[in-house]
Amino acid sequence: MSTSKPTVAVLGPGGVGGLLAALLARAGHRVVCLAGDRTAAVLRADGLHVDSEQYGEFTAAVAADTVLREPVDALFVTVKQTSLAEALDRVPADLLGSAVVVPLLNGVDHLVVLRARFPAAEVVAGTIQIEATRTAPGRIAHTSPFANLVLADPDQRLEPFAQALRAAGLGVALGPDESTVLWNKLSFLAPFALLTTRHRTDVGTVRDRHRPELLTVLDEVAAVARAAGAPADAEDLLALFDRFPATMRSSMQRDAEAGRPLELDAIGGAVLRAGAAHRVPTPATAQLVAALS
Ligand SMILES: NC(=O)c1ccc[n+]([C@@H]2O[C@H](COP(=O)([O-])OP(=O)(O)OC[C@H]3O[C@@H](n4cnc5c(N)ncnc54)[C@H](OP(=O)(O)O)[C@@H]3O)[C@@H](O)[C@H]2O)c1
Repeated sequence: MSTSKPTVAVLGPGGVGGLLAALLARAGHRVVCLAGDRTAAVLRADGLHVDSEQYGEFTAAVAADTVLREPVDALFVTVKQTSLAEALDRVPADLLGSAVVVPLLNGVDHLVVLRARFPAAEVVAGTIQIEATRTAPGRIAHTSPFANLVLADPDQRLEPFAQALRAAGLGVALGPDESTVLWNKLSFLAPFALLTTRHRTDVGTVRDRHRPELLTVLDEVAAVARAAGAPADAEDLLALFDRFPATMRSSMQRDAEAGRPLELDAIGGAVLRAGAAHRVPTPATAQLVAALS
């Protein structure tokens, strides 16, 4: 990437995408948010309003459209998996060309979809550690005191891009291989999301009242992650579970309570598919996915 202020498109300016778009726009990047008619109109008129523990309260002007109509250096894909197929129609592959594409969806299977859709682009696996909510179109509440990206880039070729993101205030680590980056996140997230949603409770209650099931699911998911090439360990995952604040709840659980579609296939389905592909049994995870389907 040649410029220190790459132009960026953000497909899905919600909790994650809206915060990224607002930070980058505030730092002087040209940012184009791609959204449906209503959200694009709100963003064009009022910009993105962020209320953040970490960055304070601010409004950033952004360009917004329903379709990408100009070349960009990078595209963040920040829709939920349940809207991905439809949302991708907003990005013509020939216009995107060889841009860097960073999906920050949870799960692992979206990379294949993006690479098939944008064959000339550089699709980079990424994850984000954050808690951010779109409270209304164009309004973002960022409630974690961090917003940290990990991008799979073993050769550190994306360092100039990472520097531009850091200059906007984001935490960015250029991580190891793709499997490690994605499974590091999914091997914690899948047990956390499935168990809290299934039992309609917080992480503290899961680890106290459903510990045998938690241990079984952690074993299964860690075995799948290892088979997929990531260095996962069930005991490390359990230690992480035990460190989390007891009242913590998952976004899948919040989606279930609000009657929104769940990212069940991206999170639970991905574990089952990888387990089947690597011949790792996942009966307890399968039961959870079936119960939530
Ligand atoms: N939020 C977090 O704290 C967090 C943390 C880590 C990972 N993640 C992952 O990040 C991904 C995004 O989550 P999120 O919480 O940011 O979701 P979100 O707040 O629901 O935002 C999704 C955005 O996508 C937009 N959208 C939906 N369908 C679209 C379409 N067809 N075309 C264009 N835009 C469309 C929505 O538009 P409208 O505004 O018009 O509804 C919304 O702005 C998920 O995979 C999630 O698991 C989230």
